[in-house]
Amino acid sequence: MDKENPNILIAEDEYELREICSEALQASGYNVFEASNGIEALNILQEKDIALVLSDIRMPEMDGIQLLNQIVMENIDVDFIIITGFGSIDTAVETIKKGAIDYLPKPFNIDHLRLQVDKAINQRLEREEKNILDKRVQVLKLSQDLNKHLELNTLLDEFLFHIEKNFSPSSTGIFLKADQSNELKQARASGKLLYADSTTLNIIRKLCKETMEKQHYKLIDPYTIKKDAYLYSLLRDSKLNYSMLFAPILKQEACLGVVVLMRDNTKSFYTNDDLQLLKVFTSQTASAIENAKLYGQLQVMNQEIIRSLTQAVEAKDIYTRGHSYQVANYATQLGKRLGLTSGELSQLYYAGLVHDIGKIGIPDNILNKPDTLTPEEYSIMKRHPELGKNILLQVKSLENILPIIYHHHEYVDGNGYPDKLRDSQIPFLAKLISLVDAFDALTSDRAYRYALSVPEALSIIQAKAGQQWDTELIEIWVDIVNKENPKVNIG
Ligand SMILES: [Fe+2]
Repeated sequence: MDKENPNILIAEDEYELREICSEALQASGYNVFEASNGIEALNILQEKDIALVLSDIRMPEMDGIQLLNQIVMENIDVDFIIITGFGSIDTAVETIKKGAIDYLPKPFNIDHLRLQVDKAINQRLEREEKNILDKRVQVLKLSQDLNKHLELNTLLDEFLFHIEKNFSPSSTGIFLKADQSNELKQARASGKLLYADSTTLNIIRKLCKETMEKQHYKLIDPYTIKKDAYLYSLLRDSKLNYSMLFAPILKQEACLGVVVLMRDNTKSFYTNDDLQLLKVFTSQTASAIENAKLYGQLQVMNQEIIRSLTQAVEAKDIYTRGHSYQVANYATQLGKRLGLTSGELSQLYYAGLVHDIGKIGIPDNILNKPDTLTPEEYSIMKRHPELGKNILLQVKSLENILPIIYHHHEYVDGNGYPDKLRDSQIPFLAKLISLVDAFDALTSDRAYRYALSVPEALSIIQAKAGQQWDTELIEIWVDIVNKENPKVNIG
C-alpha cells in the first residue's frame, strides 16, 4: 500500500454522492478511483493496488454483495466497507460476515466518512507493518537455519521445512539444475498434487523450465489463467484448478533451480505478497545451495586425497593391507552405537582410514620387520603419529581429525605415546580409534603370528581395561562384536 496517498475505490451508482465522497477523500490526501457498478470496480481492483473499497449495495450490473463475493473468491487483498441504505442493518451484518470490515449507513455526513476511512487505513497500515516484521523474523530464522548446514541434502530438508511452515502448500516441488546441462532434476517433493497424474507433472515441469529460462516469478490461479492466453491454452484441459507460485532460485545471473508451491481449493489462493516472500526465501537459499555444492565438491576431493593417502600407506606396510578400511568401519559402528553425530562419524571414518599415514615416514626395514623391534627401532616406530599429523597438516579440511591421528596410541593410564596423556585428557574419538585399531590388529594375520580368534582378542583387550583402553568403550565394543559381527570383507 502507498503509505503517503493510499488508493481508495468508491463503487457507487449515484453520480453526485460519488463525487462528494471522492472530493472529500482527495482533500484528505487519498488517491481516489471511481466505479459506477461492481464490474467496473472489479476491473479497477484487478489493475490497481487498492487499499480500501467503499461500495454501495444496490448497483446495476453487479451489486455490492456480488462484488464482495468476487473479491473474496479471487483472494484480492483489499479492505471493504459497505454503504447501506436506511433500515438495511441485516444486510450490513451479512456483508461483515462475508468479509467486509465495516458498514456506513446512509445518510452519512462527510466527517463521519473521513473518520471511518482514516480508521480503516490506519488499521491496514498497522497490519502491514506487523506483517512485514513477522516476515523479517521468518526470513531471519530461515537464514540462521540454512547457515547451520553445509551438506546439500540437509540444507534442502531445512528449506522445505521453512517453506511448509510459512506458505502452507498442499504440495511443494524443489528442482535443481543439473551441473552439466539445462535439465531440472527433482530434489524434493512433498504432498500429492505434484504427482496427481502424469499430465499435471508434465505441465508443472514445463512451467518450471520456463521459470528457469525466463528467470521470472509467477503467481498462477484460475483467474490469472483466464487472462493469459498462453497459460489458458496450456492449462485449459488439465485439472490444475489450483493456485501456484513459481520462483527461480537465483544467484546473481545464474539460476540454480526452481521452487513450485501448489495449493488446492481447500485453501485460500496465494497472493502477490506470498510471491514476494517466496522471492526473499529463494534468494536467501541460493547462496546456501551454492556453498553446499562447493562444499560437496570439496568433500569429493578430500575423499580422493584420503583414498590415495590410504593406498600409499598400505602399499608400504604390506602386512596391514585392508587394516585402514577395517578400522574406519569398526570405528563408525562403535560411534553409531554411542549415538555420535553424523559429523563425528565422518571424522571417525576418515581418521580410521588415515590413522597410520605416518608410517609412510618409517623406514621399510623397521615397518616390515618380521621379528620383534629393538628399543631403538621401536622408538622410531613410535614417531608415526607425529609424522602422520605433520603430513595431514597440509590438508586444511582435515584439521579436525589431526588430534585423533596424533593421539591414537595414548593409554588411559598415561603410559602411551606420544604425549603420555591420561584418560579424560585423550580426545574421545582417539580413544575409540585406539580400541578398534587394536581389535583389528589382533584378529588379523601378522608376519610374526597368525590372527587370534575373536574371544582371544577380546580377552586380551579386556585384560587391559582401564590401563590401555577405556573400560566402558570395551564393554560396548564386546557387545557389538558378540551381537552384530561387525567385520566386513575387504577385497
Ligand atoms: Fe598406529
